[in-house]
Amino acid sequence: MSAKIGNQPALILKEGTSRSEGREAQHANITAALVVAESVRSSLGPKGMDKMLVDGFGDVTISNDGATILDEMDVQHPAAKMLVEVAKTQDDEVGDGTTSAVVLAGELLSKAQNLIDKDVHPTVVVDGYQMANGKALEFLRRLAVKVNPADKVMLRKVAKVALASKLVAEHKDFVADLAVNAVMEVSEKVRTEYKADVEDVKVEKKPGGSLTDTTLIQGILLDKEVVHPGMPKRIENAKIALINCPLEVEKPEFDAKLSIQRPDQMKSFLDEEEKILRDMVDKIAAAGANVAVCEKGIDDVAQHFMAKRNIMAVRRVKQSDMEKLVKATGGRILTQLEGVKASDLGQASLVEERKVSDDKMTFIEGCKNPKAVSILVRGGTERIVDEAERAIHDALCVVRDVMVEPYVVAGGGAPEAEVAKMMRTYAQKLSGKEQLAVQAYADALEIIPISLAENAGMDPIDSLMQVRAKHQTKSKWVGVDPINGKVADLAKLEVYEPLAVKVQALKSAGEAASMILKIDDVIAASKSKGAGPPKGPEESAKEEGEGES
Ligand SMILES: Nc1ncnc2c1ncn2[C@@H]1O[C@H](COP(=O)(O)OP(=O)(O)OP(=O)(O)O)[C@@H](O)[C@H]1O
Ligand SMILES: [Mg+2]
Repeated sequence: MSAKIGNQPALILKEGTSRSEGREAQHANITAALVVAESVRSSLGPKGMDKMLVDGFGDVTISNDGATILDEMDVQHPAAKMLVEVAKTQDDEVGDGTTSAVVLAGELLSKAQNLIDKDVHPTVVVDGYQMANGKALEFLRRLAVKVNPADKVMLRKVAKVALASKLVAEHKDFVADLAVNAVMEVSEKVRTEYKADVEDVKVEKKPGGSLTDTTLIQGILLDKEVVHPGMPKRIENAKIALINCPLEVEKPEFDAKLSIQRPDQMKSFLDEEEKILRDMVDKIAAAGANVAVCEKGIDDVAQHFMAKRNIMAVRRVKQSDMEKLVKATGGRILTQLEGVKASDLGQASLVEERKVSDDKMTFIEGCKNPKAVSILVRGGTERIVDEAERAIHDALCVVRDVMVEPYVVAGGGAPEAEVAKMMRTYAQKLSGKEQLAVQAYADALEIIPISLAENAGMDPIDSLMQVRAKHQTKSKWVGVDPINGKVADLAKLEVYEPLAVKVQALKSAGEAASMILKIDDVIAASKSKGAGPPKGPEESAKEEGEGES
């Protein structure tokens, strides 16, 4: 790019760099972000559609989950990518509401575009939006209803709403129960508050059976089989050694030479190795362990000794699973076998290897008061278990959200409609162009009830008008009921969502919209040679050759 100083062109950017400025840049960014938002909008709500995504290898994903859809879409445009980030943040922070957040961000941008077209400066829009965002959060908190974080009935309702829009909706009662029980099990009460981490619920999936075969295990499920055929496959009252050192004789790291001259030397060498391994097993047995879970390898000879002593063992268990086993069984991770005591061992009422579909898995279950549990997801096909796993993730997250921050709002676009109403009243106090921006923010919020109605085949404008009218008469929880295709009071229908989900959606949508609106210059370097996909060795060799000539 160049500018002229006198007659001399002044080059400040590299050749090949592209640049767009001002309105043009803004317009391009907004359009790109809108395309992303529009692509997920039809999947919002219990009547939303699913998307089928096919990656470069031909692998198919079918999903309704905003974060998953956008992740699989592999968006390239930088502004569009920012909306993908919104979905990611939403997913990481609260686990649900990813589609809503992206749709909202898109609508905020679309309304902003209208204002910009009417010559409202983007900075004014951004300021207005930021003001409105702060107010919206305040209004939302004022609307929210406090609940008892240990109220299973309420938690189940919230989980059911998160599941309503997923492939597993048919079995939402069943799955919601699993999610509530799982999170309650791993939660901890600290004075009056609860702490819970969904990471403590291990979700394993195996295609086969049906979704209703999905089970909650009071302990940890390992996708591992027992190492030796001679070992027991079922142990009751298990005392479990959680071992983090290899049950092998360490091999020298470098080329060490061992010179053996006589056959008896060889024998004594092997005997010594065997003795070391036997000692290891003796120590485990002496502590009273009848199950060994090892993060590292287990030598064949050690396996043999363990089998002889009726100890069941699995090896090469992931570190994250070892940590969960500590939480579930109450055992300690053993970094060496010297001085292992009975009190170091974990406990479970049953450890058993079972066949699940074609694979053997080890169930460590019946743990007393486990602080980590597992869910084994089953379902007809691989795609069903994949989507079921994502749905269970959403359900676990919303249950956690409510336990940690025990406030809920009704769903169906009711809170958005109510906040929009409050926002319009607030806007009247403002003057000038800021008022326009705050009003635009209020209008944008209504995209949620509009989309829910549209996706359910209802008349969106008509539904919105009915919702607005009801809100004027203090029915704050009136919104769209897509299941019955009506405008209704969602609190009466017991459709509740965590406040945390709505708060996060507003925050990240507002931030992303402001950030995109503030950009008035896009300077893009030309694609560097190295940026492409990795080249084969021949190709790069050829290029090098060319460089030399
Ligand atoms: N039974 C129901 N009646 C009315 N509205 C519902 C019902 N179930 C869900 N909803 C609404 O559907 C919306 C959520 O839809 P959906 O789960 O598809 O998207 P999301 O939660 O925003 O994103 P994602 O689940 O993909 O992370 C919320 O506004 C919620 O209130
Ligand atoms: Mg959802």
